[in-house]
Amino acid sequence: MFAIMSLKFAWVVAILTVLVTLPFTCARAVLEERDDNLPARVPYVFPPPGTDALADDIRSRRDGGVLLDLDGILLNDENLATAWNGLASMIRGQNTIPADMRELFILRTGVLNEAAYVWLQHESVARSGQHFAPQLNPTNPLNASQNAAMLMADFMTKNVNVPQNVFDGLKKFLSNKQMVDAVATVGTYNLVARFVEALDIDSKANVPVPTPQ
Ligand SMILES: *[C@@H]1O[C@H](CO)[C@@H](O)[C@H](O)[C@H]1NC(C)=O
Repeated sequence: MFAIMSLKFAWVVAILTVLVTLPFTCARAVLEERDDNLPARVPYVFPPPGTDALADDIRSRRDGGVLLDLDGILLNDENLATAWNGLASMIRGQNTIPADMRELFILRTGVLNEAAYVWLQHESVARSGQHFAPQLNPTNPLNASQNAAMLMADFMTKNVNVPQNVFDGLKKFLSNKQMVDAVATVGTYNLVARFVEALDIDSKANVPVPTPQ
C-alpha cells in the first residue's frame, strides 16, 4: 500500500517537473542556432528536414533540432556521419563519468587545441547545467577530482603519454568503466577539435578561444 502510494507520488512529481520545465526547454530551443554559418574549407551538406534519415537522426539529438555546421561537414560522408553520431551520442548522453567532469574534459581539450568552435558549442552546455568548467569561473578553484581530471586531459592532449601517477590520481575517483569513458571523452574531443580546426568549420580556426578573463 505504502509502495503504491509512493509510486503514485513519484508520478505526480515527474509530471509536475515536466510541466514546470517545459517552457524553459522550449525557450532554449529558440536560442539554439549556435553557429554563425560562416564557410568551412569544404561545402556544408544540409538535407532539408524529412528528406534524409541520417540527417533527421542527427537533428533529433541536437537541441532545437538544428543541424550544426559540424554536422553539415560530416554529412559529406554518410558513413563517417553515422559512425560519428554513434560515438558522439554515447559520449554526450550515456557517459558514466559525472557531467561536470565530462564538460571539464571537453572545454579543457578545446582550449588546449585552441579550438574556438568547440568552446563556443560547449560553454553554454557547461553553464546551463551549472557544471563546473575550467575558466568559466576563474575565482572558483578546482577541487581534488577536478584537478585530477584536468591533469589527465592535459597529459593526454599535450604529451599523449600519460604517467602512471596521473592515471592513478584520477582512478581514485572513478571506476574502471568510468576511467575508460574518461579517456574516451578526452580522446574524442581531441578528434573533434582537430577535425573542426583543419576543416575551418564555421570559419573559427583562427578565432581565439573566448575564455573569460
Ligand atoms: C568536486 O566538485 C564536483 C562538482 O560540484 C563534485 O561533483 C565532486 O564530487 C567534487 N569532488 C570532490 C573530490 O569533492
